[in-house]
Amino acid sequence: SRAIKIAPSILSADFASFGAECQAICDQGADWVHVDVMDGHFVPNITFGPQTCAAIRPHIKGVMDVHLMIAPVDGYLEAFARSGADFISVHLEAGAHMHRSLQTIRSLGAKAGICINPATGIEQIEYLLDQVDLINVMTVNPGFGGQKFIMSQLDKIRKLRALIGERPIHIEIDGGVTTETAPLCAAAGADVLVAGSAVFSGGSVSNPAPYGKNISAL
Ligand code: DX5
Ligand code: ZN
Repeated sequence: SRAIKIAPSILSADFASFGAECQAICDQGADWVHVDVMDGHFVPNITFGPQTCAAIRPHIKGVMDVHLMIAPVDGYLEAFARSGADFISVHLEAGAHMHRSLQTIRSLGAKAGICINPATGIEQIEYLLDQVDLINVMTVNPGFGGQKFIMSQLDKIRKLRALIGERPIHIEIDGGVTTETAPLCAAAGADVLVAGSAVFSGGSVSNPAPYGKNISAL
């Protein structure tokens, strides 16, 4: 498989058919499946919780990558770990004690990710590097799919790649990834690209071939 992993976000899938949608994108070449959990508080939108994650888990072939846009978050980590999440990512902006949250995720047997909003600098990650397996750079303001990629974040990705050095930490890009912006992210040092609208556009559970074409085009 290729060096850059594509993680379709089911935020752009048919919410009435999550199981079939997950199967379809995995069959069509998705490396990971990205699952956006929103609480209507940390972000201005509501999606679903750990029960839905547990329900879709058997329909995902590879990695289930759970992005928590919720605050507070600590009280929910165990439920998401039990749902079968491989990666659980929390927002740096969602609590005062992220070091503890990340330790908790690992103690529950999952890989730990930290997400940073477009306005957040990478300085605050420096002392978390030993605690994380993944850093999610938000290239839109979280809450909705289909937004425009914020170009200033490319510089952040480059700086983050330099900061990480040889550590085995994924750099994941989330928001506005398209055929135009994907190569820029890869060149800046990202290795996992989340894509919602760019993967799901033009396809459906009964016509999944466009998913495969869209994934290969990124
Ligand atoms: C935004 C989510 C993203 C989003 C990406 O809050 O975290 O994962 O679904 O969607 P696109 O690729 O359409 O920007
Ligand atoms: Zn996401």
